[in-house]
Amino acid sequence: MKILLLGSGGREHALAWKIAQSKKVEKLFIAPGNAGTALVGENVNIKADDFEALKNFCVDNGVNMVVVGPEDPLVKGIYDDFKNDKRTKDIPVIGPSKKGAVLEGSKDFAKGFMERHGIPTAKYRTFDGTSLEEGLKFLETLKAPYVLKADGLCAGKGVLILPTLDEAKKELREMLGGMFGNASAQVVIEEFLSGIECSVFVLTDGKDYKILPEAKDYKRIGEHDTGLNTGGMGSVTPVPFATEEWMKKVEDRIIRPTVEGLAEENIDYKGFIFFGLINVEGNPMVIEYNCRMGDPETESVMLRIKSDLVDLLEGVAEGNIAEKEIEFDERAAVCVMLVSGGYPEKYAKGYPISGVDKVEGSIVFHSGTAMKDGEVVTNGGRVIAVSSYGKDKEEALQKSFTEANKICFTDKYFRRDIGQDL
Ligand code: AMP
Ligand code: GLY
Repeated sequence: MKILLLGSGGREHALAWKIAQSKKVEKLFIAPGNAGTALVGENVNIKADDFEALKNFCVDNGVNMVVVGPEDPLVKGIYDDFKNDKRTKDIPVIGPSKKGAVLEGSKDFAKGFMERHGIPTAKYRTFDGTSLEEGLKFLETLKAPYVLKADGLCAGKGVLILPTLDEAKKELREMLGGMFGNASAQVVIEEFLSGIECSVFVLTDGKDYKILPEAKDYKRIGEHDTGLNTGGMGSVTPVPFATEEWMKKVEDRIIRPTVEGLAEENIDYKGFIFFGLINVEGNPMVIEYNCRMGDPETESVMLRIKSDLVDLLEGVAEGNIAEKEIEFDERAAVCVMLVSGGYPEKYAKGYPISGVDKVEGSIVFHSGTAMKDGEVVTNGGRVIAVSSYGKDKEEALQKSFTEANKICFTDKYFRRDIGQDL
């Protein structure tokens, strides 16, 4: 079969790497892809949210399945767009309908959904410009620190955690005053939860699901979780506290009620669900939903799926995921992200990258790279993920750190403490 994968980051290179290993795949296209995806498939110069051009491409090239990496095309309704066009209605799009993607696209919707289905999450209330005064009063009833979330998509920047009531009030005023444009026209204020986070992923056909390996990601730029938030500086799988017993709680209290809740609400959902969880004294609670895989979790999780991913994706498309087997690799897998100096603030692009050919035994996933005059150059904040296996996470991390040292570009930075907190 012919598959078109959408996106251009490290997550997409890891998905492309895994998809390309399937015997079922005759041709893999990636739109728009990056310098890394070009090594495992054919890049197509179409933006992931240019639905007309994507549909034309699929029809002209006999594409049999579209796999969506990032949330943006999903939130914009690519699933429905393909379905409602008679030329593409039979090409399955792996990812939820526009209604399903609202689980990620609106924090208020996600909180309401969890409330309706009894899924454990922090207590909350939502406010808008007309209820600012009530919002300020509500803050007074909470204990520090204060969690404020813009309702809409903000490229990972819409969550503020404020240490004092005064700061929380000031930020609430600013958010409702348009700090994140329309995305913060509504603000969710919620109770602060304390614990370690864990990302759990499932593939669902809307009725049944398969749970993928869980992972922990490292969001802050600085070692020991200091400094600004980033897209993610590394990931580790398995997560030691995600024992069989804990994962059973996750499945019973969170995964199954979510999949059943979507069906009950007639929300068409055939794709990945990413549960951003926090372990509060042994009990998993939901911090957020995403309608896609995580980045950089995918760059370690794909290493631990032994089964043919395309077979699982077919199960999603055909509605028989329950009949599929998913086998995990028993080894640990990790990813260490090499980033541009200055990231997540201002950084330069276009520096030549060398040494990738010297890497041995690890897998290099390109994140922000491009080809310039026949040379691979930096083209983003997160540049390259170095992923490794090990008998345990220590061995895998050592491997990634060793290989990361071989890759060179100006102002390269990576965290050397990934996985140490576990
Ligand atoms: P989100 O975009 O909802 O995942 O939030 C971004 C980050 O903020 C999460 O990964 C958590 O580290 C943190 N966070 C969000 N909500 C809470 C909460 N209720 N309590 C504690 N930390 C939170
Ligand atoms: N690693 C977190 C995310 O992909 O949103």
